Amino acid sequence: HYRQLLHGGEQLCVEDLSLADLAERYATPTYVYSESYLRQRFHAFTHALGPQTTLCYAVKANANLSILNRLARWGAGFDIVSGGELARVLRAGGDPTRVVFSGVGKSRDEIRRALEAEIYCLNVESPAELARIEQVAAELGCRAPIAMRVNPDVEASTHPYIATGLRETKFGIPMAEAPLLYERAARSRHLEVLGVACHIGSQLLDLAPIAEAARRVVQLYEALGRQGIHLQHLDLGGGVGIRYHDEQAPTPADYAAILDAALGDLPVRRVVELGRALVGNAGALLTRVEYRKYNGNRAFCVVDAAMNDLLRPSLYGAWHEIWPLERRAAAQAPMDVVGPVCESGDFFAKARPLPADLREGEVLAILGAGAYGFAMSSQYNSRPRAAEILVHGTDARVIRRRETLGELWAAEEPCA
Ligand code: LLP
Repeated sequence: HYRQLLHGGEQLCVEDLSLADLAERYATPTYVYSESYLRQRFHAFTHALGPQTTLCYAVKANANLSILNRLARWGAGFDIVSGGELARVLRAGGDPTRVVFSGVGKSRDEIRRALEAEIYCLNVESPAELARIEQVAAELGCRAPIAMRVNPDVEASTHPYIATGLRETKFGIPMAEAPLLYERAARSRHLEVLGVACHIGSQLLDLAPIAEAARRVVQLYEALGRQGIHLQHLDLGGGVGIRYHDEQAPTPADYAAILDAALGDLPVRRVVELGRALVGNAGALLTRVEYRKYNGNRAFCVVDAAMNDLLRPSLYGAWHEIWPLERRAAAQAPMDVVGPVCESGDFFAKARPLPADLREGEVLAILGAGAYGFAMSSQYNSRPRAAEILVHGTDARVIRRRETLGELWAAEEPCA
C-alpha cells in the first residue's frame, strides 16, 4: 500500500513527483499528501458502503482546508468535535446538512453555532448536555436535531488512550439509561430525535468489536421502536485501522460486510465517521538528518522534525515506517531517530534498522503521517509548525505554508 503513495526505484516519489525535489523546493520538515490516494480511499469506502451510508469524514484526523475542500467536492459529510472544526468545514465549502457534531464537552456557544448553521445532527453525550441543547434551541426558537451517543461497553483492542467504548471512559451515555432519555427528548418541542450514535475506538484492526457495538445499537433501535420512537439513522462512528507496519488492515469491503451483517436490511440511513482510514496513508512527513551521534554504543539519528510535528510515537509508542529517500543496498544498523526537542520522549523510532551510512543532510520520509500528524502538532520549544503540500500528479501545492517566527508570538504582547 505504501507503493501507491511512494514509489520509484532509486528515487522515492509521491504520485509523479520526487520527494527529494519536494524537500529541496519546500524545505523540511514538511508534510506531503497524495490527493489521488485520498480520493481513491474515499471512493473505495463510499462504493463499498453503498448509497444508504453517509460517510462523514472525521475532521480531527486532518483538518487542512484543502483536504476538507476535496472531500466536500467528492460528496463527503463531516464529523466535527468543536466550533473550530465547524468553522473549517464551512470555510472549506462543506455542506452543513451533512455534518454530525460529536464530543463530550460542547459549549453553549458551539451548540448555538451548530444550530444556526443547521447542521444535520448533534450527537448527545449526557443528560446534562441534552438539557443544554434543548435550552439553546428554545432560545433560538428552533428544534435541535439529535442522536444519543451511547456507550456500548465493548472492548476494542487498541491503545488505551484511543479506546472509547468501555463503560469507564468518559464517552457516551450508558446503554441502560438511553431509553428514558429518548422518551424525554421525544416529548420536547425543541428536540428532534433522529438517531443513535456510537464510536468505540480508533485504529481497530479487528472489526468484531464494531460488529458487537452495532448489534447493541440495533437492539436499542428495536427497543425504541417498540416504545414508539422511530429513528432515521444509525451512526456507527469511525475507527477502521490502517497498516503502519506489518498489520493486516481491514479493507473497505471487510468493513461494509461487518456493517451489513449487523444491520441487515433495517430501513435506516447509516452514518460512519471515518478519519484515519481515509487520510492516514495519504501522507508522509519529510525530515532532514541534522546529525548522527553515539552515546556509548547507542546510535542516534537527530532529524529536524520532532514530537511537536508528529506526536504519535511519543504519545502512543506508535510505529511509523521511516524510509531514506536515497535507497541503497548498504548494511543496516539499529538507530534511534530523534528530534531536537528537549524531552527523552521526543523520538520517532527506537533501535530502528536504517542504512549504517546514513548521512547528515539526507532526507527521510516518515510514513503513515496523514492522520493525527499535523493535526496534533504544536509549537512546543517555539518551533514554527511545518508546511503542508498536496500533490496531484505532477502538481504540488502549498496547502499550508510554513509558520514564521513572528507567528509564534503573534497573539502575545511583551507586557512590562
Ligand atoms: N468519531 C469519533 C466520535 C471519534 O472520537 C473519532 C476519533 C473518530 C470518529 C475518528 O476515528 P478514526 O476513524 O480516525 O479512527 N490521536 C489518535 C487517534 C484519536 C482518535 C480520536 N477519536 C491517534 O493518533 O492514533
